[in-house]
Amino acid sequence: MTVRQASQAVPAPRESAQPVAVKAPPDRLYGRQRGHPLRPRQQRLLDLTLPRLRLAESALADPARGFGRAPSEIWLEVGFGGGEHSLAQHASHPDVGYIASEVFENGLCSLLSRLVPDGQEDTAPVPDRLRLWDEDARILLRALPDRSLDRMFLMFPDPWPKARHAKRRFVHPETIRLVARVLKPGATWRVASDDPTYQAWVEEVMAAQDLFDTAPPAKIRPEGWPPTRYEAKALRAGRQPFYWVFTRR
Ligand SMILES: C[S@@+](CC[C@H](N)C(=O)[O-])C[C@H]1O[C@@H](n2cnc3c(N)ncnc32)[C@H](O)[C@@H]1O
Repeated sequence: MTVRQASQAVPAPRESAQPVAVKAPPDRLYGRQRGHPLRPRQQRLLDLTLPRLRLAESALADPARGFGRAPSEIWLEVGFGGGEHSLAQHASHPDVGYIASEVFENGLCSLLSRLVPDGQEDTAPVPDRLRLWDEDARILLRALPDRSLDRMFLMFPDPWPKARHAKRRFVHPETIRLVARVLKPGATWRVASDDPTYQAWVEEVMAAQDLFDTAPPAKIRPEGWPPTRYEAKALRAGRQPFYWVFTRR
């Protein structure tokens, strides 16, 4: 069975949950996956370093086996952008197996460039408790076993603020069921957003589900939440980020 054919079984919402009116999420991704043509260094990072860090398909059934050393917990970040948050979390939690996912090539290069010096893309040692997933994170969520993750991060996702694009948002009634399936009971899902439309959307979607316990968002970045590039942009522009923690029931 290929990763894409892997189980799509997710918990059905309980009857008490009030549905949110939105179309099913499209299978394809709408954000940019390629930017400017890659420089030679970036191409080497993708060709030589990325394969050494990519989460192996053979580890999907038991993701702990995807790391060089057995991890104490497994955490997943969706859409790491330039990788600042992933690398900071990985550095401060060296026992955790960290899966960082991103589809934008320049973002992947940005994280990889901080790991290996120029000219040593195929030889410099790479971390054994950090793995990258360079496809749509929803494919990974479908492939992972039930209750296999201890924590998940979604930092400043693409907001898709137009109502007709709501189905593209990562926080979506269908996608949160994928997230819920792979999280262990008591596991936390951190979500941050600076976009007022997305903030209201997260509140609406999470109020209509009963898979996670919710709490009002923090308005100041809590301790243990490393900053991200998009957050810095938002603060410079005077926008107010919200920081939520959802806990899997
Ligand atoms: C607005 S950026 C935020 C980047 C970073 N988290 C930050 O705060 O600086 C959102 C990122 O999520 C990535 N992304 C969107 N949907 C994704 C998906 N389904 N799987 C993996 N990455 C995704 C995009 O490529 C983009 O780089």
